[in-house]
Amino acid sequence: MTEPLDRRRVLQGVAVVGGATVATSLLAACGEDTSGSTGSGSGARSDAASDPATTDGGSDGGGGGGTVLGSTSDVPVGGGRLYEGEKVIVTQPTEGEFVGFSAVCTHQGCIVSLIEDDTMTCPCHNSEFSAEDGSVLGGPASEPLPSVAVSVSGDEIVLG
Ligand code: FES
Repeated sequence: MTEPLDRRRVLQGVAVVGGATVATSLLAACGEDTSGSTGSGSGARSDAASDPATTDGGSDGGGGGGTVLGSTSDVPVGGGRLYEGEKVIVTQPTEGEFVGFSAVCTHQGCIVSLIEDDTMTCPCHNSEFSAEDGSVLGGPASEPLPSVAVSVSGDEIVLG
């Protein structure tokens, strides 16, 4: 009869000791958390500082942070290229000179997508625009394609 009671007491004792151990651990954990969070906070800042550096690695040449449209080699001299996602056309009238235009037709808003030689043509009603300055060369459109600022960073064409 005494043995089961002793076992219970022993087990209760273990539970109390265990609870105390747990409580001590929690307190210790809190202490560790406090000091640990300070340390990891600094680490996180270091990591955050290194992440942009990694991201910047792709755009080291620019540093402007503008959207990269593509490579300069994708735009033929005397021609141009449409960047559909940005609705921007970039032309290269003379070697090394890159000019940006809105690809939204000033007639009724279609995307000007045909670029041959020095002419940008809207497929909807065949308005034609100069690839040098966006001026109207023909068709129903009466307003030029608006300019869009682009710049060259290394071998990439960047918006802005
Ligand atoms: Fe471009 Fe009409 S929308 S010519």
